[in-house]
Amino acid sequence: MTGLLFAAEVSAPDLATLERRVRAEEDAGYAFVTLPDDPLRGGVEAGVLAAFLARRTARIGLAPTLHTSTTEPFHLATQLAGLDHASLGRAGWVVGATADPAALATVGRAAVDPAEVADVVEVARGLWDSWEDDAVIKDVATGRFLDPSRVHHVHFESPRFSVIGPLITPRPPQGQVVVIGSAALGITDQLDVVLADPAQGRPAGAPLVFASVHDVGDVPPGFDGCICSAPATTCRPSSAARPGRPCGSPSACPAPRTASLHLGVFFTGAGPNLLWTRPDFADHTHIDTFIHVARTLERGLFDAFFLGEGLRVRENRGTVYDPDVAGRPDAITQLAALAAETTHIGLVATQNTTYNYPADLARRLASLNTVSGGRAGWNIVTTDNAWTGENFRHGGWLPHERRYERATAFVEAAKALWRGERVVAATDLLTLDATGAIPARPVLFQAGDSPGGRELAARHADVVFSANTSCVKAAAYAADLRRRLAAHGRAPDAVRILPGASVVLGDTAAEAREKADWIRREQTTGPRALAYLEQLDPSRGTLPIEFRTGKLARIAAWRELAAERDLSIRELVIAVSPGHESFVGTPGQIAEEWGRYLRDGVVDGFNYPYRISRA
Ligand SMILES: Cc1cc2nc3c(=O)[nH]c(=O)nc-3n(C[C@H](O)[C@H](O)[C@H](O)COP(=O)(O)O)c2cc1C
Repeated sequence: MTGLLFAAEVSAPDLATLERRVRAEEDAGYAFVTLPDDPLRGGVEAGVLAAFLARRTARIGLAPTLHTSTTEPFHLATQLAGLDHASLGRAGWVVGATADPAALATVGRAAVDPAEVADVVEVARGLWDSWEDDAVIKDVATGRFLDPSRVHHVHFESPRFSVIGPLITPRPPQGQVVVIGSAALGITDQLDVVLADPAQGRPAGAPLVFASVHDVGDVPPGFDGCICSAPATTCRPSSAARPGRPCGSPSACPAPRTASLHLGVFFTGAGPNLLWTRPDFADHTHIDTFIHVARTLERGLFDAFFLGEGLRVRENRGTVYDPDVAGRPDAITQLAALAAETTHIGLVATQNTTYNYPADLARRLASLNTVSGGRAGWNIVTTDNAWTGENFRHGGWLPHERRYERATAFVEAAKALWRGERVVAATDLLTLDATGAIPARPVLFQAGDSPGGRELAARHADVVFSANTSCVKAAAYAADLRRRLAAHGRAPDAVRILPGASVVLGDTAAEAREKADWIRREQTTGPRALAYLEQLDPSRGTLPIEFRTGKLARIAAWRELAAERDLSIRELVIAVSPGHESFVGTPGQIAEEWGRYLRDGVVDGFNYPYRISRA
C-alpha cells in the first residue's frame, strides 16, 4: 500500500443500509472498512457480515473485529482465512481483545491474561503460513493433491493454550490476512496497520499507521492515512437493486414449492469422494466453484447446500495425509459468502458442540440466518476423536457419551438464546452466562448414528443426515427414530430423514454402471489405496480411525480375497473400502427406486455427496 489511504469504520442499523454504505465507501475509493463487533451486541457478527459483504463488493478491504478472548484461536484463524478466500484476498482483521467480564462470561471465562492477545496473533499468523504457497501440487501421475513436506504443524505452545495446526485450508490468497489493531493493544510489532490517536503521535515500529479521526480530510502529518468514524458525507446510498440479493423478508421470498422429496447436497471438500485429478475438474477450494455449485443446485430446486466440518487436516503416521484433498473452509464464513450469491437455497453448516462455545456459535448461526434472509441450518455433530482437540484450548476433550451430554445442553442453550433468553450454566460440561440478542430458528440437522446421536436427534433435530441408506437399514433407522420421537412427545414426522446417497446416471443401466466403476477407480488412487491398507499395519499407529478393532482377522480376510480373485492393491481396496451408497441407473430407474423409499416412509429425501465439478 502506498500513498495516503482512507479507511472507515462502518456500522448501520440494518443489513441493507450497511451494504449500501460499504459499497459507497468502495466507490469513494476507501482502502478498507472495519466492522466493529462486541460479543454482547445484538447485530450480525462481524465475521459473518464481512463474508456476506465480500460477495457484494469487488475491491474494498473488509476487516471485521474478532476478539481473541471470546473465541478459539484456531477458529479465528480459520474464519479469517475463509474470508480471505471468499473475498479473493481482501480480508483484514481488527484485533479485539475484550476483557469485559460480561463478554468473557458468554464463553465461560472469568478473566483473561493480557498476554493472550499476542499469543493469538502469533498463532493465527503461524496457521496462515502453515501451508506454503505451492503446497497444492495436484500431481495426477502420483494421485497426490498436496505435497506434505510443504504443509506444516505449528506446534504452538504458551502457558495459556496450545495449537498443533496446520490450517485446514490452503494458504489465504494474501498469504497473511492484514492484521489491524489499536496502538493500545501493545502489540505494535505484530500488526500490519496500527490505528492510533493522532494526539499521541505516530507510534514507533509500525509499518503503516492510521490516525483515528472523526472526518475525512484531516490526516495529521506523519500518518499514512486515517480511519474515519463518521464518513457519512461519502456515503451515497444507492437504491439500485442488484441481482442475486437475498430475500430481505420472508414475504419477499419466492413461495416455497411443495415437494415430497427433499434433496440436499453435501459439499464434502476434503475426503475420498471428491474427484480432482482431471484437468477439466474445477478447483474445489476456490470460492467460484462453491458459488457455481450452489447456484446450479438452487436452479435445480435442491433444498439445501450443506458443508461438512473437519477441524484438523487428516494425517497418516504423523504427517499430513497427502492423497487426501483440502478444502473444508470455515462453514459459516463460506455460507455467509454464498448467502450473498443465492436467493432461496438452505445453507447448512456442520458445527460441532465439543470445541465451540454455545453463545458464540448461536450468535454466528443467527447471523448467518440474518444475512441469508432466514436460510440457515446447523448440522449438529460432536466429532468423534480426541485428536482434533489438539487445535483447541481444552485439548482432546470428553469421551464419546459425555460429548452427547454436552451437545444436548449446548443445543438447549442455543435454542434459549435464539428465543432471547438469558442462559446461565456452570457445570463441568458447560459454563456460560449470556443473553441472546439475535432472534433465530435455524433448521437443526443432526449427524451421528450412535444411540447418543439418535437421542439428540429425537429431542432436538428437524432433519437427520443419516448414515443408513440401504432400504433395510433406512427402515430400521426410521422405526428406531420414531420410537424415540414418541418417547419425547414429538410427532412421528417431526424429523425429516435424509440419508447420504450419491447418484450416477446413464442413458442405460450398463452405461451408469460403467460410470460408477470409473468414479470408484478415480477415487481410489494408488497412494490412497496404500494409505488405506497401512491403517491395518499391526506394527504402527496409523490413521486415527476406529477401524483398528479386529485388525488381524480383517488382514487375513483381505489377503484371502486378494489371492482368490487375483486382485491388485488398488482393486482390493476398491473391493473392501466403504464407498458412499449410490443409486446407479437410468433416471427412470432411480425415480422408481426413490418412489419406493418414499412410499415405504423410510426417508424424506437424500443428501448427495458432491464429487465432481466441471471447470
Ligand atoms: C452422515 C454423517 C456425516 C457426518 N459429518 C461430519 C462432519 O462433517 N464433521 C464432523 O466432525 N463429524 C461428522 N459426522 C460425525 C459426527 O461428528 C458424530 O458426532 C460422530 O460420528 C460421533 O457420533 P456417533 O458415534 O453418534 O456417530 C458425521 C456423521 C454422519 C453419520
